Amino acid sequence: MTQSLTLRRPDDWHLHLRDGAMLAAVLPESARHFARALVMPNLVPPVVTGADARAYRDRILAALPEGMDFTPLMTLYLTEETDPADVARAHEEGLVAAVKLYPAGATTNSASGVRDFDAVRGVLERMAEIGLPLCVHGEVTDPAIDIFDREAVFIDRVLDPLRRATPGLRVVMEHVTTADALAYVRDHDRDLAATITTHHLVINRNHILAGGIRPHYYCLPVAKRETHRLALRVAATSGDARFFLGTDSAPHTDALKESACGCAGCFTAPNTLSILAHVFEEEGALDRLEGFASLNGRAFYRLPPNAARITLTRGAPVTCPAKIDTGDGPVTVFDPGFALHWRVT
Ligand code: NCD
Ligand code: ZN
Repeated sequence: MTQSLTLRRPDDWHLHLRDGAMLAAVLPESARHFARALVMPNLVPPVVTGADARAYRDRILAALPEGMDFTPLMTLYLTEETDPADVARAHEEGLVAAVKLYPAGATTNSASGVRDFDAVRGVLERMAEIGLPLCVHGEVTDPAIDIFDREAVFIDRVLDPLRRATPGLRVVMEHVTTADALAYVRDHDRDLAATITTHHLVINRNHILAGGIRPHYYCLPVAKRETHRLALRVAATSGDARFFLGTDSAPHTDALKESACGCAGCFTAPNTLSILAHVFEEEGALDRLEGFASLNGRAFYRLPPNAARITLTRGAPVTCPAKIDTGDGPVTVFDPGFALHWRVT
């Protein structure tokens, strides 16, 4: 049995770092293991302009502990007022790696997102011209659609029409949770990829709802039934370069999670790599972990692979703190529900 595994340093293609005291507390958890991360722009207020992205990047770099090597790759939050020229400029300056589309109301801090997709046509066309990827939170917000169906319905109602209307637009379906989304990616060879989170490889909807409600397993898109989780594991471990890691590590304080109306998000940054090694080992695919976590994403984003390497070793159970302290209050770390044996050494 493999006891040690060396990979190029991985990148996280979907990460929430927040701001202020929370940023200071969670940033080292990602920077310890990941070389780069695509940083989500859903702050309050959101990161909309190139100037916003520059200021946020500076705050992240200022919060990075001395001696840690980590590059934040910035995103812009697409609104109906977004100026295509500002986006193009931010791209040209190397400031942003993607633009993020949130349908208004789909998830945490998405109120400034898009309602009228025609209103953002100019920006999308410009992005197609310059090759700047669009990261999509793929859920419809129609209250008539069951929450477990919102990703599948989004593909037919929004994503496919949008891609047809904007040839050449490079799209990442973020944090996919359904076999439907995997099939859509597999059927469309060009300009399309998907991120898969760590937690969606581990939990299905029973983890959230059976035997009591478990707020720390609640995230968006919500975990689906077991058949979908199994399909995600097949895709992640398949070696197909269109699928890569975006943890969607999304810290919220316990006070905000453990509430009558709890926030969506799983905080997986501290133990993501241990969990992924466990999952890939279970699937007999440890040799494909490097592709999923370190190579496929950077290829889609047209960046060089990281030169540095990390080594994971298998041994006695890994102890990970159940919570981390932040200036805003404690944040619970995602519990995979099984003992972890792989540690980053
Ligand atoms: C994210 C957050 O908290 O910002 N929450 C989540 O459940 N994933 C937003 C998002 O990515 O949808
Ligand atoms: Zn997210």
